[in-house]
Amino acid sequence: MRDEERKHSKEPVIEARQLTMAYGQRLVQRDLSFKVHKGEVKVIMGGSGCGKSTLLQHLIGMMAPVSGEIFFFGKPIPSDEVSLKNLRKRFGILYQSGALWSSLTLAENVALPLEEYTEFKKGEIAELVDFKLSLVGLSGLGHRYPSELSGGMKKRAGLARAMALDPEVLFFDEPSAGLDPLSSRRLDDLILSLREALQATIVVVTHELDSIFAIADSALFLDTGKKTATAEGDPRKLRDDANAPLAVRKFLRREADS
Ligand SMILES: Nc1ncnc2c1ncn2[C@@H]1O[C@H](COP(=O)(O)OP(=O)(O)O)[C@@H](O)[C@H]1O
Ligand SMILES: [Mg+2]
Repeated sequence: MRDEERKHSKEPVIEARQLTMAYGQRLVQRDLSFKVHKGEVKVIMGGSGCGKSTLLQHLIGMMAPVSGEIFFFGKPIPSDEVSLKNLRKRFGILYQSGALWSSLTLAENVALPLEEYTEFKKGEIAELVDFKLSLVGLSGLGHRYPSELSGGMKKRAGLARAMALDPEVLFFDEPSAGLDPLSSRRLDDLILSLREALQATIVVVTHELDSIFAIADSALFLDTGKKTATAEGDPRKLRDDANAPLAVRKFLRREADS
């Protein structure tokens, strides 16, 4: 999708309004309001412990906010389990751990959601699995077990599984955690090519600067001390904008500092 179209697609895919999140009495972040548009890569960034993963849990309906609301395609996240499950079928989620089943081959891992959520026959599922594996550069490796793969390959296999049901929205929690710089860059490239190929909307939680600058159309900065979002926009502009909050400029300049 061209940038123009992306900006002008009217209804946001995701909208958070005045979101406040807590664990019991412990406030994590308050008053978060932001939108994610179709085909956009939105990065949620901020220091360790600021609440990035917690926000992701809210966006996928695994946690309920203390106050405020989250909308998907203009409708509030449902609270009943059945509607929630139906909504989640439209999401692809790649958790930090990647979590492939170690006793299953790659092909079996990718086939799981198709077996659980669709009526496809065995042969059709096998074809879809081959296709998803080819999308992430793992053609012909479906017979391998996770232990026979490098860290980067495991992440890509997790991505193939997250995409099994052709999700409209992909969520990633620290996708490049634990990867060497080259694998990490390949994963970033892959995320961008999937966005182009599938026109998916992508939300990525990360604190890794290289990834932030490589993939974000827009980044939301969660400030640890202030416990709210203090900046949102193109991360390069935020880094170089003298009017941007000091904390976000420092965050985006970490490497230059050290
Ligand atoms: N299950 C939990 N119960 C209580 N506090 C939690 C729980 N999970 C995370 N926290 C706390 O909430 C804050 C935000 O955590 P998290 O969202 O994991 O941060 P991030 O992903 O940005 O590193 C941290 O202070 C963390 O210690
Ligand atoms: Mg986290």
